[in-house]
Amino acid sequence: MNILISGALGYMGREVARQAETNGIEVACGVDIRTGAADFPMYTTYEECPKVDVIVDFSTWKPGADLLTYAVKHHVPAVIATTGLTEEQLSAIDEAAKVIPIFRSGNMSLGIALLRALAKKAASVLGESFDIEIVEAHHNRKADAPSGTALMLVDAVKEGCAEERQAVYGRHGRDAKRQKQEIGVHALRGGTVTGEHEVCFFGTSERIKLSHSAENRSVFAAGALRAAEFLVGKEPGIYTMDDIVGKL
Ligand SMILES: NC(=O)c1ccc[n+]([C@@H]2O[C@H](COP(=O)([O-])OP(=O)(O)OC[C@H]3O[C@@H](n4cnc5c(N)ncnc54)[C@H](O)[C@@H]3O)[C@@H](O)[C@H]2O)c1
Repeated sequence: MNILISGALGYMGREVARQAETNGIEVACGVDIRTGAADFPMYTTYEECPKVDVIVDFSTWKPGADLLTYAVKHHVPAVIATTGLTEEQLSAIDEAAKVIPIFRSGNMSLGIALLRALAKKAASVLGESFDIEIVEAHHNRKADAPSGTALMLVDAVKEGCAEERQAVYGRHGRDAKRQKQEIGVHALRGGTVTGEHEVCFFGTSERIKLSHSAENRSVFAAGALRAAEFLVGKEPGIYTMDDIVGKL
C-alpha cells in the first residue's frame, strides 16, 4: 500500500509520515498548501500528484487544494481525519462517497473506538443492575468539560442500556444522592495529562472498570494508518471506526 499525505507539513501529517516509515508503508507523496521539504515528493495541489492507493488527510481544508476532486477523478479511497468541517464540506464528502470509499472519524484512536464498543456491550449486559459512572482526566489547559470523548461514551452507554439513562455532570450538595437512572460524569483537570477515560460499572460486591489512556497524539496517526489499510479495496460509501472494531 502507498499513501498520499494531505496536510503533510502539519503536526499530524509529519507524525503520519514518521509512523508510515516505521511500519514499512510507502509515502508516495504529500500535499500541503504551504511549501516545505519532506522525505517524499511534495506538491501544493493534488492535480500534480501521481495516482496512489489511499489518501490520509490531516489538513485543515483551507482553500487552495481540493482533495475530493482528485480522489473522485482517480478513484482513490480517502481517510479524512480533519475536524471542524462545515456542513457544505460534509455534504461534499457524502457526495464523493457515492463514488469512492471514505473513512471519516473525529477521533482516530483505535483504543477509544474499542472502549466505546465495550462500554456499549457492558451497559447492555450490566445496565439494569449496575450503577454507571464515567470519569475523565485532562491537562489544566483544556477549556471544555466534560471532554467530547466522554460525551461519546455517554452515548455508547445510553445505546447499550435497555432503560432510559440520563447524564448527570458532577455531584455536590446535601441532596445529591445517586439516582438509579443516572450516568454520573466527572471531569478531572490538572498538569499535562493527554487524556484519560474510564467507564465504571458498580454492582453489588463487584466492580468493572473499562479505561483508556492516551499518552500523546501519535495514537491518532496510528489509527488513521490502520483505517487506510482497512479502506483499500472497499466499496464506495462512508466508513467509521465502528467498521474496524465491529459493532459489539
Ligand atoms: N480525527 C482525529 O483523530 C484527529 C486527531 C488530531 C487532529 N485532527 C485534525 O487534523 C487536522 C490537522 O491537525 P494538525 O494538528 O496537524 O494541524 P496543523 O495546522 O499542524 O497542520 C495542518 C496542515 O494542513 C495544511 N493544509 C491546510 N489546508 C490544506 C489543504 N486544503 N490541502 C492540503 N494541505 C492543507 C496546512 O498548511 C498545515 O501544514 C485538524 O483538523 C485537527 O483537528 C484529527
